[in-house]
Amino acid sequence: MSHSDSPRLLVYGAYGYTGRLVVERAVAHGYEPLVAGRDRTKTRGVATAHGLQARPFAVEDAADHLGTVDVVLNCAGPFDQTADPMVDACIETETDYLDITGELQVFERIHRRGGDAEAAGVTLLPGVGFDVVPTDCLATHLHRRLPDATHLSLALESEGGVSPGTLKTMLSDIGSGGAVRRDGDLRFEQIGARTRVVDFGEGLRRAISIPWGDLSTAYHSTGIPNIDVYLSLPKNARRAFSLSRYAGGVLDADQVQRALSWLVDQYVEGPDEAARSAGEAHIWGEARSSNDRVVSRLRTPDTYRMTVRTALLVAEKVLDGEAPAGYQTPASAFGPDLVLEVPGVERVDLNGDEVVREESTAAE
Ligand SMILES: NC(=O)c1ccc[n+]([C@@H]2O[C@H](COP(=O)([O-])OP(=O)(O)OC[C@H]3O[C@@H](n4cnc5c(N)ncnc54)[C@H](OP(=O)(O)O)[C@@H]3O)[C@@H](O)[C@H]2O)c1
Repeated sequence: MSHSDSPRLLVYGAYGYTGRLVVERAVAHGYEPLVAGRDRTKTRGVATAHGLQARPFAVEDAADHLGTVDVVLNCAGPFDQTADPMVDACIETETDYLDITGELQVFERIHRRGGDAEAAGVTLLPGVGFDVVPTDCLATHLHRRLPDATHLSLALESEGGVSPGTLKTMLSDIGSGGAVRRDGDLRFEQIGARTRVVDFGEGLRRAISIPWGDLSTAYHSTGIPNIDVYLSLPKNARRAFSLSRYAGGVLDADQVQRALSWLVDQYVEGPDEAARSAGEAHIWGEARSSNDRVVSRLRTPDTYRMTVRTALLVAEKVLDGEAPAGYQTPASAFGPDLVLEVPGVERVDLNGDEVVREESTAAE
């Protein structure tokens, strides 16, 4: 299938670890995305490897380069630095905006641009990767099961590896502290201030509270006013986390961030194809009301495989004009069952002793 005459997709950050995987899969599925990024040589390298057009530009100049583009998929993170200028450019040029952020404050800022986007007929849909497609779908599924829920808890576990870019983003999030949502407002606190023991389906794990993007997205998708998110850390991140907590107490925060970023560059390589194929992620969710409690779980492929698949699935739907204008979350745009359109995903509902399983029937 060729999509070359179809509406145009531009992948920004296309030579990063995730951007490359996204471009590769898009091409394998017959798309011809425009390949973009701030480094001219690296951008051209990816474009040439796939016979695609290169669009090197700094994110601050994006508005000058989106004229013929229908949808931008921003893979250049940390998104704290790239989302705002790209969102401005998208609203100005009436281009739909997608990214793979998981950063809480980025979601909150993009949410505030929803009115301008709606007026321009533009969709702003951040978080089309592993953060937060499965978690947002699980949150809305739990809300569908218990519509009067007042409390939502989500927990994640991934034993696959982590890429340098993701680890740097996690470390800068750790630097800016943790959060929970209470009575509809974000409340900031120390990261890891809460712990919870969670059964992801393979025994109990201890998880720590983290300021995951769902504190924004799940609130906007479900309206549930009290939300906590927990993470059971993968091994290489666990080491970096303890180091950053230790160092954060005794050194200047910027110096610590710089030192940790350098360490990440020296010692961390992203997971290879074998690790991505073998890896799995687990998500657990619980919704509570004053007199009821429901629990559901998701099992998904490795976070990077998942990110590439969800990002392209959503991009395809947005290119097809299926997304409403204005600010959207994955599930507000496409419903809680979106995640079951991804191959290899299983959803389990626990109802007392009864276990209800649903599996994605989508082909690879
Ligand atoms: N949603 C998810 O589940 C998910 C999954 C994977 C990754 N992520 C997130 O996606 C981001 C990328 O991860 P990765 O592993 O692909 O990282 P990576 O390999 O380090 O790639 C990052 C890319 O972003 C570009 N970039 C960074 N800052 C930029 C800026 N200010 N202006 C223009 N380009 C900029 C980099 O270009 P230079 O090399 O020129 O700096 C590079 O192309 C991270 O924030 C990560 O947390 C999310």
